[in-house]
Amino acid sequence: MTPLPPHLLPHTAEVGPTGRLSVGGCDLVELADTFGTPAYLYDEDHLRSQCRQVVAAFGTGATYAGKAFLCKAMAALVHEEGLMLDVATGGELHVALAAGVPGSSIIMHGNNKSEEELTRALQVGVGRIVVDSHDEIDRIEALVAAGVGPVPQVLIRVTPGIEAHTHEYVMTGQDDSKFGFGLASGSAAEAARRAIESSGMELVGLHVHIGSNIFLLASFAKAIERIAPFVRKLDLPELSLGGGLGVAYVAGEESASIAQWAGVLTKACAEAGITARLYVEPGRAIAATAGITVYRVGTIKELPGIRTYVSVDGGMSDNPRPVLYGSGYEAFLPRATDSTRSLPVTVVGKHCESGDLVVREAWVPDDLAIGDVLATPVTGAYGHVMASNYNKVPRPPVIFLRDGEARVVVRRETYDDLLALDW
Ligand code: LLP
Repeated sequence: MTPLPPHLLPHTAEVGPTGRLSVGGCDLVELADTFGTPAYLYDEDHLRSQCRQVVAAFGTGATYAGKAFLCKAMAALVHEEGLMLDVATGGELHVALAAGVPGSSIIMHGNNKSEEELTRALQVGVGRIVVDSHDEIDRIEALVAAGVGPVPQVLIRVTPGIEAHTHEYVMTGQDDSKFGFGLASGSAAEAARRAIESSGMELVGLHVHIGSNIFLLASFAKAIERIAPFVRKLDLPELSLGGGLGVAYVAGEESASIAQWAGVLTKACAEAGITARLYVEPGRAIAATAGITVYRVGTIKELPGIRTYVSVDGGMSDNPRPVLYGSGYEAFLPRATDSTRSLPVTVVGKHCESGDLVVREAWVPDDLAIGDVLATPVTGAYGHVMASNYNKVPRPPVIFLRDGEARVVVRRETYDDLLALDW
């Protein structure tokens, strides 16, 4: 197996003369020694340049989906770069506000927003609420009538009846979905009628999101084509096309850039006669490739004729994606980044179950040894945010790297943190 393909590494990744990898001017092996393992490392310049691509293409319609990777530092970074922030829960809203993001720069999502969540959203004057159900329309109307906050500007979330080519758990555009209002059933038209007639909300647009990690750009164009007659009929000022752009995780995978994706979306809208101002809200495409997780190798167990298990000091608690979706990753040694990887191994975590996989089919240099720092690239999205404390394993820190400096933006959990909620 060849060395790790460079397109899976963040923009500022550099391989030194001895094969050692640095990101943001920081040596990864040294970072692992200084801050411990596992750790989520982020290339801050990479995050910023991805944000800038979205702003360049969509201007004030540029939004970042916080569910992919959120902490105060990330919320602040996104706001600084001029993007709106999409939050899906009261918890995400709380982090955004704590980071200093003004309510007007926040878009509130969620298929089951509670009265409490809607109350806070109204009180802080969120920029947009994406309405997801008839019950939510009732709830917003009641809260506004009770004087909780000003009349919000809302979008209606529409499911266009599209099955995007992605994992079934992250498809959202098909008719059978818990999200939004169906186009084919007439439910979306009914919701729009209610919102237009309501004195408790101002309908400013429609929203469509067909799923996540989508590689086939034609799926986005198809959704736009499908929804276009409804968009033209309502003639509202805004249309949000959601997120969903896929990213390459393993050798052999190639993904479109944000600029290419934007080109397809804007062309499809123009061809469909859509003149509304376009919004998008990518998450993965901004955060995934910016992140690398570093682990330390603790045991190497060779089962003759079966396989070699390499255990690291993290696992399904810091990255549940392999277990949840069967997601594949690459593994490499930051001390020998451009070495040939000739040893097939299965990288597993330290959790008490056999399914605790980090990389099922990994290739590593054949001098792999106990104590080595082993890294998995493309772990910047849906890793930190989906982490758990299974087996009471403390969650890793988040460290931003830029211009030779490492900034801990989320500290490592301690054993005492694990007791913080217990009576
Ligand atoms: N907008 C809405 C309404 C969404 O539901 C999502 C993702 C996004 C934007 C951002 O999508 P992205 O650009 O990141 O694909 N945990 C799964 C992914 C779940 C995606 C949920 N919604 C994973 O690890 O693959």
